[in-house]
Amino acid sequence: MPDSIAPEEPANREPSVDNLFLRACRREPTGVTPIWLMRQAGRYMPEYRAVRAKVAFLDLCKRPELAAEVTVTAVERLGVDAAILFADILLILEPLGFELEFSKGEGPVIHNPIKIAADVDRLRPLANMEALAFVPAAVRMIRAAVQPSVALIGFAGAPFTLACYAIEGGSSRHYDRAKTFMYRDPAAWDALMQLLVDATAVYLNSQVEAGAQVIQVFDSWVGTLSPHDYGRFVQPHMARLFSRLDPSVPAVHFGTGTASLLELQRDAGGSVIGLDWRVELDLAWERLGAGVAVQGNLDPAVLLGPRPEIEIQARRILRQAGGRPGHIFNLGHGILPQTPVDNVRALIDTVHSTSASQL
Ligand code: CP3
Repeated sequence: MPDSIAPEEPANREPSVDNLFLRACRREPTGVTPIWLMRQAGRYMPEYRAVRAKVAFLDLCKRPELAAEVTVTAVERLGVDAAILFADILLILEPLGFELEFSKGEGPVIHNPIKIAADVDRLRPLANMEALAFVPAAVRMIRAAVQPSVALIGFAGAPFTLACYAIEGGSSRHYDRAKTFMYRDPAAWDALMQLLVDATAVYLNSQVEAGAQVIQVFDSWVGTLSPHDYGRFVQPHMARLFSRLDPSVPAVHFGTGTASLLELQRDAGGSVIGLDWRVELDLAWERLGAGVAVQGNLDPAVLLGPRPEIEIQARRILRQAGGRPGHIFNLGHGILPQTPVDNVRALIDTVHSTSASQL
């Protein structure tokens, strides 16, 4: 056969690296809208609770065969278009020198948080992945186990969200300690952010090397900042992080409460911008422009409601996306633990069937 009628597929279009999700990231038409859900492997799922009855959360993250099993079970049970590595954004803090614990009922606790500028100097940069080798190991196992039609997402916390935990010592309502540190000692803040960016780049690129096809950066708490402070204390660091990531994979830039930050986040980087439910998807996408894809944006609480409400809201969001290439359906934040699994499956079916019939 002459070469002219059998053109070689470019490397990134091989079936193993081309699926609905990846095409949506590149803003190519997909026919059916891809969907996955943040925290799709979590406490709402009986299979996950059964595994957790036997192993503590941190141990689960550190045993790649178990972490992979949890990821793969969720994908198979739900029929989603992407698998997400089972891990946590806070794991990276341990090799940097933080003592991390997930205590029952309290969420994450860091026993030696940063209190003064000098505490930043005693942190250890992440030179290699030795202490976190279980993460790329899980990525390899998941990639080997899931179908090529399912994209594999690697992830990390964004430096601001990680710095909040590192300074607050755990979850926080107002992030007052983190903000005080940022305003009082901007040089130490920048040093901390730089160390976190460097570590996160090593961490994410190791996941790509192991087989992650998409990267999501979780800046979950960044919506607490004014646009001014985002521009001054966060955006340059995020831009440096995105510029350091392997350019062969798309990156999803996610935050919550970010209605006033979207353009600034887009300018920092990422080929897909995550939207929470506090913005209208169509208006937000208009603001962001045609140069990026969007992911979102159903309120996770809708999944606690009756089935007809779930269907109405899913269709509303698909209408707002209007069949434009580059929409990945998701919640605006993670699945709530009390969510019925059948409601999650109903959402996935509705998104697949409704978007297919819009063709
Ligand atoms: O399915 C997936 O989405 C992949 C796994 C995943 C987890 N955490 C597992 C987890 C991902 C992507 C994360 C990210 C994460 N972790 C974020 C960013 C996303 C977000 O929700 O904003 C944040 C802020 C964390 C930090 C964290 N981890 C908190 C605040 C908590 C406690 C609150 C909670 O929901 O329990 C965790 C624990 C955690 N991480 C659980 C899971 C499944 C629950 C642990 C358990 O089994 O008890």
